[in-house]
Parts: sequence; C-alpha cells; structure tokens
Amino acid sequence: MILLTILVTGGLGYIGSHLCIELLKGGYEIVIIDNLSNSRLDTLERLKEISKREIRFYQTDLMDMKEIKKVFKENSIKGVIHLAGFKAVGESKDYPIKYYKNNITGLINLLEAMDEYNIRNLVFSSSATVYGMDNKSPLTEDMVLSTTNPYGSTKLLNEVILKDLYATDDRWSIEILRYFNPVGAHESGRIGEDPEGIPNNLMPMITQVAIGRRKKIFIYGNDYSTYDGTCIRDYIHVVDLAKGHLKALEKNFNSKGINIYNLGTGRGYSVLDVIKTFERVTERMVPYEIVGRRLGDVAISYSDPSKAYKELGWKAEKSLEDMCRDAFRWQEKNPKGYRTNQWMFGNEIYKIG
Ligand code: UD1
Repeated sequence: MILLTILVTGGLGYIGSHLCIELLKGGYEIVIIDNLSNSRLDTLERLKEISKREIRFYQTDLMDMKEIKKVFKENSIKGVIHLAGFKAVGESKDYPIKYYKNNITGLINLLEAMDEYNIRNLVFSSSATVYGMDNKSPLTEDMVLSTTNPYGSTKLLNEVILKDLYATDDRWSIEILRYFNPVGAHESGRIGEDPEGIPNNLMPMITQVAIGRRKKIFIYGNDYSTYDGTCIRDYIHVVDLAKGHLKALEKNFNSKGINIYNLGTGRGYSVLDVIKTFERVTERMVPYEIVGRRLGDVAISYSDPSKAYKELGWKAEKSLEDMCRDAFRWQEKNPKGYRTNQWMFGNEIYKIG
C-alpha cells in the first residue's frame, strides 16, 4: 500500500508534534520541516519512539527557498500542513518586522514551492486571535475579523493571501483552521508544551507552578464581566485539535475550494475554573495572585464549532479534566521540558552529556 506523504511545517512544535503522531496513526507518511527556533530535536526522537516509525526531518527555515525546494524535490509530497511561525503576542509588539518577515514570507515561499511542484493541497494553521476584541462569543467563521497585535495581523494577512490565491487559481484546495486555546499533552507524557523562558500562556504557567518551578501564578484581572470576574476561554485538548487536522485533510483531498473552520470545544471556562479543576484532578496546589489586566485580553472568547462538526464530522471529545491531567503528566515527567543537549549535523543527531 502506498501511503500519502504529508509535509508538516513546524512539525516539532507543540501542536505540530501531536499532529505528527495522529498523522502517522492515521496511515500517512510524514516529512517534517522545522528550523528549531522554538522546538527541540529531542522531540523528533520521541515522535519516533511513540510511533515506532522512521520520520524524515529537515532542519530548514522557510526563509530559505533553495532548501524548501529541495524538500519537495526529494519527497513525493501530496499535501502540506503549515504550522511553522512565530506565535508570541508580546514579542510581536516589540519586533513587528521580524513577525511580518517570518510569518508572511514563510507562507509565500512555501506557496511558491508548492506551486512549482504542482502540489496545491494545503491546511493552514490560523488562530481565534483573528476575531479581535469586538465580536460576541460564540464566535462563528463568518464574523468580521480584526486584530490587536502584529502576531494576530500575520495570521489575518495569511488568511487574506490564501483567499486571494484561491480566487485567482481554483486548482488549490485550502482549509484554514482557527485554533482556540490548545492545552494538554499526549497521554504518554513524552511530548508536550515546552515554552522558552517564562510562559505567556495559562496552562504551562499552571503546570510550572504545580511542580514548584515557579512560586505562584499571576491572574491578569478579576474585574471582567464574567461569572467570577476572570476571562473565559475555549480550551481544547491538543490531541483533539490534532485530530481535527486529519478530518480537514480528508476534506481537503476530497474537494476543491477554500474553507474555514473553528477548532474549539464550544465551551468556555474561566481562569479560576481552570486552576480549580487542575488542583482537583492533580491534587496539587496552584497558588495565585490577582494582578491588573493584560493589555489586549478580551473578556470572553469561545467558539461555535458546529461548522467543523457538520462539514468535517469532527468534534472535540476530551474534557477540561483530561486537559489538566495530561498537561500535568507531561510536566511532572519532564520538569525541565525537553533535553536540549542535542545537535544535528547532516542527517545525524549528536548528543552531548
Ligand atoms: C493567547 C494570545 C493569542 C494566541 C494564543 C495562543 C494574547 C492576548 N492572546 O491567547 O493571540 O493565539 O495565546 O498562543 O496574548 N492568564 C493569566 N495568567 C497567566 C497567563 C494567562 O491570568 O500567567 C489568563 C489570560 O489573561 C487569559 C487566559 O489566562 O484570560 C488565557 O491566556 P493565554 O493562555 O495566554 O491565551 P489567550 O490570551 O487566550
């Protein structure tokens, strides 16, 4: 049997690594491109260990057109899932040009190479951030979009580029997936979220406090107009999210066009709900302190995921309890995250220590 080969950009990142496992389980062959700017080589070994499969990996930057074309030349790629990109909101405000250059040029280079090699099946990783501050939840795909920071703008612009592309060349088949708040980890505890430095996002902050790496978590505001005053988000288990990509990919291969889907659970939880649920299922204390609001945070954001259910037959299945349990298992087994003492020369991985 010939397996379809899917190129995953950013395949060693938090979402990418979970996606790769699901693709391999789902009977696809994969090729990973990652520049390791926010991921570790160790992840590749763990993916091989979990899947018991060989995985082709290129330490390649999407800025490097020659290298991207080489990947297409050397592999018979049938479709692409594009996740590679910078994703820190705060950093994007300090370095907007870096974000534009990387996230926009990265997509354009990828599209140019795909076009040259006659591959026009693409699943693109977008974000709920494109719904901006003014829409009222539940958020639906047809709402007016806006952003509040350069990171969000790069996602929105990438969506515009893809829509324009399809409008001028209908040989393309494109699925745009708008992620809500991915949390949790693979049940093996071997792969998970490993942010560089101080975590920006809620769940890695909670898990780091729970294992004693940090003293307490700062809750950004308890004066929002929500039931307990803290912000409400649509947390989704990263494995559910990964499975959504497989459903989107099936649709992508079976039809032409451009489609947009929310990937969320449709249910919102407050920051305090998450902390309390985490404490209950892990039996660990998560001390917190209420501080001022974080600029750019919207009070309530959750999805209407019904379009993905209707058109892809996908819905999230895991509970907030599962998300907390799995995130904690990963952090407890890997208190310092991945090992970083590995380097790649050619196709060989070397370890020091
Ligand atoms: C953030 C980004 C969003 C990005 C997403 C995925 C902002 C404003 N938004 O979403 O664009 O797509 O991450 O990376 O940064 N919280 C605390 N204390 C903390 C951390 C978070 O109270 O230490 C609160 C936040 O105020 C928010 C909730 O937890 O209410 C979730 O925060 P976070 O995990 O950063 O996700 P978003 O802000 O929804």
